[in-house]
Amino acid sequence: MNSSEFHDFLSTRSSVRDFSDSPVSEDEINYMLSCACTAPSAGNRESWDVVIVTDDGLKEDLCDAAFNQEHIKNAPVILAVCANYVRSMSQYGERGILYAVEDATIAATYMMLAAHAIRLQTCWTGAFDDETVSEILGLLQHARPVTLLAVGHGNLPELRMERMPVNEHIHEETW
Ligand SMILES: Cc1cc2nc3c(=O)[nH]c(=O)nc-3n(C[C@H](O)[C@H](O)[C@H](O)COP(=O)(O)O)c2cc1C
Repeated sequence: MNSSEFHDFLSTRSSVRDFSDSPVSEDEINYMLSCACTAPSAGNRESWDVVIVTDDGLKEDLCDAAFNQEHIKNAPVILAVCANYVRSMSQYGERGILYAVEDATIAATYMMLAAHAIRLQTCWTGAFDDETVSEILGLLQHARPVTLLAVGHGNLPELRMERMPVNEHIHEETW
């Protein structure tokens, strides 16, 4: 893939919230997860874990916990990507809290882009009640859910979300 193809690859991904009934295969999920395992992480500790959710009842409960965002129950698979604080804090102390969230975020981003590579659609979902999600999924106390990544088949929107001009992000030398 050359640089222009890479840019096209990134810019043709969009969040999709309207999923069809078409299932996601185990191979597809395994592909996404194996791509996530190539992600960088603080000290290579890979301080993230994922709960793969396909059960309709659990997805309905997660939908409630995500303030009734319907795509959570309509997506065939939800990947609940979690920061694993213990794995990171055992090496980095308090700083490990930040590192674990970063590790989980990067891993989930790799999953999202891997899905795009195999023509699956995703919606990163960050609006949910942490405690309720933890309870539903039986998360251990040292895990924090970072995203409920909805995965499935659906149509990309005709119009993609606009972005700020790049120079609005940039500060030269100092802010
Ligand atoms: C940290 C984060 C939290 C998000 N939370 C939600 C969410 O709760 N529900 C939702 O529908 N989309 C959510 N999104 C998706 C964004 O709305 C979406 O990425 C953004 O509008 C840009 O659109 P695009 O993904 O189609 O490029 C979230 C994205 C990020 C990165």
